[in-house]
Amino acid sequence: MQKKMMMDMRVVECARLHGLYSLLKLTPASGDRLPEMQPGQFVQVAVPGAPHTLLRRPISVNFVEPERNLLWLLVRRAGEGTEILSELAEGAVVNILLPLGNGFSMPADGKRLMLIGGGVGVAPLLYFGKKLREAGHSPRFLLGARSEQDLLELDEFEKYGEVYLSTDDGSKGQAGVVTQNSVLQGGIDNIYCCGPAPMMKAVARKAREIGAECEVSLENMMACGLGACLCCVEKTVKGNVCVCTEGPVFNINQLTWQI
Ligand code: FES
Repeated sequence: MQKKMMMDMRVVECARLHGLYSLLKLTPASGDRLPEMQPGQFVQVAVPGAPHTLLRRPISVNFVEPERNLLWLLVRRAGEGTEILSELAEGAVVNILLPLGNGFSMPADGKRLMLIGGGVGVAPLLYFGKKLREAGHSPRFLLGARSEQDLLELDEFEKYGEVYLSTDDGSKGQAGVVTQNSVLQGGIDNIYCCGPAPMMKAVARKAREIGAECEVSLENMMACGLGACLCCVEKTVKGNVCVCTEGPVFNINQLTWQI
């Protein structure tokens, strides 16, 4: 099992993106190298100076820049904890537990890949896209959001593959939800998906329909991130498992979703 570590990390950059989103770039305060992280894994961030926010916040690994020893985290402001994280000043130090969970599986050579993300669920797909590219694959991305303001890091995704877009209101890309996008008609061997549960279920259904393998990254509520509190349990064909230790990535055939 991969060793988990607790690290103080220094904020190198905290940029407000549009809408409710911020991008944090962090480096180990000690100057040590970041540990190896797999795309799809997550970290648990302690919120500094938040008396009402005792629990760490689980956040997906958005990207790793080995050259600058930086970890990127995409934060959606959704409460006191994430508000504080998205306002951190350059030089601030946060304590982070990492790397947690499993990651997406690397496909066999020559597979036609589609990485599908919704909202802030696009976060782990950027790092995965980079790793796939480095391994000689040609990933494509289908990114969905409510409207143009909620589409994130498009210029980054474009570095690693073709990008297709869907917005509910049609302000960018095709109008409608991702499963209505015409790029999903077929010619795909493997789908990797992260986003809100209803979207992932619809994508899983679509994957079955077009005969594609499908992995999803679950966003169950998490507290400890270490398999101790059982608040993240998901029913699978092998019984109940903790998403934080056995997941967050599952093949849809492991899940008991009615799709
Ligand atoms: Fe505590 Fe998974 S978050 S067991």
